[in-house]
This record gives sequence, structure tokens and C-alpha cells, in this order.
Amino acid sequence: MTWEDAGRLGIDEILARLEQYRRDDVRWKDGRVFSLAYFGGDEVMEVADAAYRVFASDNALNLAAFPSLARIQSEVVDIVRRWTGGDEHTAGFMTTGGTESLLLTVKAARERGRAERDIHSPNAVLPASAHAALEKGCHYFGVESRRVPVGDDWRADVDAMAATVDDDTVLVVGSAPSYPQGVIDPIPDLAAIATARGANFHVDACMGGVTLPHLAALGEPTPPWDFSVDGVTSISVDLHKYGYTTKGAGVLIHRDKALRAYQTYLTTNWLGGTYGSSGILGTKGGGAMAAAWAVLHHLGHEGYMDLTRRARGAALRLAAAVEAHPDLSLLARPDTTLVAFAAHDPDRLDVFALADELLAHGWYVDRQSPPPSLHCTVMAGHDETIDGFIADLAECVASAGSNGRAGEAGAYGTIE
Ligand SMILES: Cc1ncc(COP(=O)(O)O)c(C=O)c1O
Repeated sequence: MTWEDAGRLGIDEILARLEQYRRDDVRWKDGRVFSLAYFGGDEVMEVADAAYRVFASDNALNLAAFPSLARIQSEVVDIVRRWTGGDEHTAGFMTTGGTESLLLTVKAARERGRAERDIHSPNAVLPASAHAALEKGCHYFGVESRRVPVGDDWRADVDAMAATVDDDTVLVVGSAPSYPQGVIDPIPDLAAIATARGANFHVDACMGGVTLPHLAALGEPTPPWDFSVDGVTSISVDLHKYGYTTKGAGVLIHRDKALRAYQTYLTTNWLGGTYGSSGILGTKGGGAMAAAWAVLHHLGHEGYMDLTRRARGAALRLAAAVEAHPDLSLLARPDTTLVAFAAHDPDRLDVFALADELLAHGWYVDRQSPPPSLHCTVMAGHDETIDGFIADLAECVASAGSNGRAGEAGAYGTIE
């Protein structure tokens, strides 16, 4: 039946159909998915959904029309400023998440390089582990991406990075932590390399920006990663990851307003008057912004301490189990809550076949390469399921190792 012939559906029918559409989606609230969606508990979701609904159709394109959203943004950014060791000069905007933050990071670096150093063939020096969205940013904004192999410990290789920057470098990046192997790059050394050239140095803390300050508050030693490090010009922190809020919320924060100014866009070159925007989007729903504000205030410092402690505990339990398994090889001790592992002997165990076995047992993990490996984003809810996962992992290693089947590498994102 075509849409024209279908007539009008009532709300009950609509919700029933959509629920049916979701039948084959991953069930992330059950603690069996180690990727893509973060669950802070039913009450947190309720708060987020309620706030989202109120602001869903409000438009953050014009904050003069929606002073509520201006206030929400400024209060959310202020919380992130404290988490990132900022001061009264630190200034940022909410974004729709990590990718938008990183696109804007590249754009801001390019603009600054052009304005302050007259650079017209800019390059960005990125450890091989830095997130793919930076590659996307370089592609979108005409910046050459210079990828530098990481060291044996999967961290940025400082000497190799130093040897790759030149007078046209506008941006150097370090991650806290990197997505693929979950380790924190040597931020102070990388920042010094960028500073020596007058380039921006961005810390991609999309994954760790919520976890790290709370880990530190829990008394765990954390390597330097924030604005307390000289030369860090900007930091990205995602709230829709370990902030446990609705999708579409992150923050890109700069050391000062002058650096932030390179992120924004303003034109009068059309027939509609002055058009300005802080981010990539024009019209921007207020829902995710309000949900982020609501969840931050609902959880409070204590709530994040608890979620961080639980996620970290589960991650360490998983890492220890992987390390103890004779057929698996832990890529790195997790600096936060990301655990990545490979096969000890790839000729005997295909990790993608292992991922297939895990999926058949109801567990969803990410597949990545190079090297062929599996990746678990461990969250608070996993503290209740991790022991079951560890038991099934051992069973699945045994069956994947003996059945001789090859698995599919899969993809991190899709284009269809
Ligand atoms: C370190 C890091 N940076 C950036 C991103 C991109 O974030 P998003 O998918 O929210 O756009 C991710 C996503 O996992 C990430 O792990």
C-alpha cells in the first residue's frame, strides 16, 4: 500500500508499528550491547525524555528568540568547563556530538591558521588512532590529514608527531582516550609540539571527558589531559556517551573566546539579513540540549561518581579476564572504560567469527581493524552483566576456535 492510500494513523497504531520496526534492533538497555547507546537507568531516561519533549521543536538557531536555550547551553558548558579544568576565560558551545565537535575543531584551526599565520595549504597532524571524524573534517574543510603511526603501546608517538609537523600545520590532536584501543595520548608532549609552531592543539575527550574527572575524584591517578596542560587550545566532550543523556549532545570548549571565535560563522551575503551560527547546523532542535541539562542536574556529581565507578569496575574486570585467557590478547590496559582485544594467534582464532558467536549468544561488540580486534565500550549497566559476558566469552572463544569459520569485519558506520 502506498503512503497516499494508507490514510491517517492514530497514535496507538503509530507507536505499535514503530515498535514493530524496532524488533530487530540491538537491545541496549539489557546490558548486552558494548557500543552505540548508553543507558544510565530507567529514571535517567525518563528525565531525559521528559525534558526532550518540552524542547523538541524549539530552535537553537536563534537564541535571542529562545533565551531558555541560551541559558541551558551556558549552564551545560559551565559544568563541562569545570570538568575540563577551565577558568573564567574558557568558552564553548553545545554541539550535536563528537563528530560535529571534531568538524568544528578542524574548521577553527584552519581559520586561525589563515588569519594569524597566513597559511593557505594547511595540514593536521593526527595519530593513526584519532577518530575518523577528524578525517571527515579534513576532507570537508580542505585540510591535509597527516596520519602518524602510534607506538607499540598504541599511544601517539611523540617523536614521529614532532617530525611530521611543519610551518603549515594548523592542528595537532591527542585523544583522551582514543576510541580503538582506549588509551590516553601523551597530551603535554603533543601540546608542546603544537605550541612551538603556533598551531591549535585539540584533546578529543569525547569518550573520556565525563569519566576522567570523576575517576580522578574517585582517587584514581589519571594522566594530564585537560586545560591544566599548557598549549591545549580546545577539548571535545560528549554528553550523549558517558554523560548518559539523549543522542545529539556534546560540547566543544576552547581555552578562550578568541579561539572560540574561529569556530563560528557569520554572513550577510544573501537577501535575508545577518545569519550567524555556532556550529554546522542551522536549525537545531532544543530537545537534546534540554535533555542534557536535565540529566546533568538529575544525576549530579554523586550520580556521575556512581556511574563512573560502576563502568570502571566492569571494564577492569573484563580487561583482567581477557588478559588471563590464553587465546586472547588485551591490546592495552584500559585508561578509562574502553577494552579492546585481539586473538593471541590469528591463525587459530578469527576474532570476527568470535564476534559472530557472541552475537548468537546475544552480545553485541564492535569489530575493528587494523589489527583485527574486538572493542567493548563498557558502561555502568555492564556491572550487572559483565560476569555473564566473561563466561560466554570463554565459551565462544572455544567454539569460534574449533569451528574454523571466518567472520565478517563489519563497519563502524554505514552509508545506506
Ligand atoms: C574518541 C571519539 N571521538 C569522536 C567520536 C565521534 O562521536 P559521535 O559518534 O558522537 O559523532 C567518537 C565516537 O565514538 C569517539 O570515540
